[in-house]
Amino acid sequence: MPAEATVAAMTRKKPNRTSGKLALDHDLLPRHVAIIMDGNGRWARKRRLPRIAGHAAARASVRDVVAASADLGLSELTLYTFSMQNWTRPRSEVAGLMHLLDQTLREQVDEMDEDDIRLNAIGRLDRLPKYARSRLDATIERLSGNKGLRLNLAISYGGRAEILDAARGIAEAARRGDVRPRDINEDIFRSFLYSPDVPDPDLLIRTSGEQRISNFLLWQIAYSEIYVTKVLWPDFRRRHLYEALADYQRRERRFGGVGATQSKRR
Ligand code: IPE
Ligand code: IPE
Ligand code: MG
Repeated sequence: MPAEATVAAMTRKKPNRTSGKLALDHDLLPRHVAIIMDGNGRWARKRRLPRIAGHAAARASVRDVVAASADLGLSELTLYTFSMQNWTRPRSEVAGLMHLLDQTLREQVDEMDEDDIRLNAIGRLDRLPKYARSRLDATIERLSGNKGLRLNLAISYGGRAEILDAARGIAEAARRGDVRPRDINEDIFRSFLYSPDVPDPDLLIRTSGEQRISNFLLWQIAYSEIYVTKVLWPDFRRRHLYEALADYQRRERRFGGVGATQSKRR
């Protein structure tokens, strides 16, 4: 594959599903893209519709972006689906979101299976209503033999809650004598996170313009590149993902060093 390839040329299959001629470098694609899917309520308000209509419209964005990520050959896609703080929303909105989660998994499982996608969930899943939890578990099980893109859904997820749960896990391991406090390092800490084998996001996208993290993946985004777009999540499609990836590819990641162009010693 030449270094510069069009999106259409580099996708593995179903080229008819791709569009756009944006030049992306296949060798510089991120391994892991994480998305804060925001703006459903504003999308609905603009149309004088109830907020839940925005959440329902968001299913098409999820389907398109998940399929595009699989087509591009990304390893990990993490979608911020429902935060710990979202439990404070009106009861009817929370109930509507839980039903949409169930419905979306039901509607999209066959296509995900065709695309060789695995499913994983992170968060305090014990708070989910029973029917939604069963659907989630069943979908994870159904897709567990697949080998392609891993779709991580952050549901009932909070970055601080994840760090607290890890701290509790380490404290219990220390009490059992399995780990010595002085040995605790970043690798050991990471091993107590919800999905320690998922590499940190390279690119974090937030839709609908807000420039904040809202308690998402606090440990994992230490060196993620951040891309904020004004596009509301229900309007977000694969071409917007390509734009974010093209922007990412123009950046220099330094990780606290001086960067390749200024480094004399390679
Ligand atoms: C994101 O859209 C979906 C969830 C947080 C579940 P919002 O519902 O936050 O939409 P806005 O921010 O009000 O537009
Ligand atoms: C973040 O969006 C949570 C999800 C996208 C699931 P919010 O709409 O809840 O975040 P804030 O309230 O604007 O910070
Ligand atoms: Mg919001």
